[in-house]
Amino acid sequence: SWTMANVVEEQVEAIRAQIGGKRALCALSGGVDSAVAAALVQRAIGDQLTCVYVDHGLMREGETEQIERDFVAVTGADLRVVDAREQFLTALAGVSDPEQKRKIIGREFIRVFEQAATDVVADAAAHGETVEFLVQGTLYPDVVESGGGTGTANIKSHHNVGGLPEDLTFTLVEPLRTLFKDEVREVGLQLGLPGSLVWRQPFPGPGLGIRIVGEVTAERLDILRKADAIARAELSAAGLDREIWQCPVVLLADVRSVGVQGDGRTYGHPVVLRPVSSEDAMTADWTRLPYDVLAKISTRITNEVAEVNRVVLDVTSKPPGTIEWE
Ligand code: XMP
Repeated sequence: SWTMANVVEEQVEAIRAQIGGKRALCALSGGVDSAVAAALVQRAIGDQLTCVYVDHGLMREGETEQIERDFVAVTGADLRVVDAREQFLTALAGVSDPEQKRKIIGREFIRVFEQAATDVVADAAAHGETVEFLVQGTLYPDVVESGGGTGTANIKSHHNVGGLPEDLTFTLVEPLRTLFKDEVREVGLQLGLPGSLVWRQPFPGPGLGIRIVGEVTAERLDILRKADAIARAELSAAGLDREIWQCPVVLLADVRSVGVQGDGRTYGHPVVLRPVSSEDAMTADWTRLPYDVLAKISTRITNEVAEVNRVVLDVTSKPPGTIEWE
């Protein structure tokens, strides 16, 4: 729209004025906000921006490719993908407690990102350049909630590259600070980002790690990714993806039940569908999905995902249930 074209133009000017000839760094999460923030900064300063994407292996099907391939194709951004999948799996081995999982995933993410940032800074230094800015996709509601402050971010530098100070300090660039979510989506569309990214439903930072009830393993992630991809494809084919706030698909990895599939008796896992309607995720109601859509999802998952022999529907509102199971 005309207004959003103006927002883009104004922001591009403001970003150029702030960053000048220096270099900037941005962590892409796979979500809408960081992608739109990075795309805006890319438009403003081109290859003075380096983006880092930590592939922790907890994303849904196609999401990493969406960043690696589609985001890069549209923006031309210089993207470094760090494959940290093994590191996350190792750190999560044997852990079932949800809060413990969150802590581990958060901690590993910071470690990997700090290392990547150190490398970017060191590479720039080798060319006589400095990376002074860190791009963040902070939205207006986050600004209000945090009291409006802005400023700098410190990260630990990792010492295996010489000549860097112990702490790296970056000035924050937050081009979405005045925008609400729907405006951010419009800016994203304006910048040519794909609808599948721009209209992505909320997805928790710890990703599928908190949608496997039980220990997170590579096999379980594969099972859940397949089931989740089917549910998302069918909801979107039914035109329901934008009506629903979120629909977590949860693998009850430690539960088994008896079934009959194909040649005989199975002893597989259930997955839970958790479609919710909400305004802000503080409260939510379970979405009354059409039976035929539910039937299609159930049939396809049990036909196409060998390890899953039962699909169950969560009909709990929030409160008392939370949206996620962990
Ligand atoms: P709950 O499960 O508390 O979720 O009803 C409310 C909203 O928050 C998301 N969520 C998270 N987001 N890190 C995140 O970034 C987390 O650890 C996390 N846990 C829940 C959830 O998807 C829902 O949108």
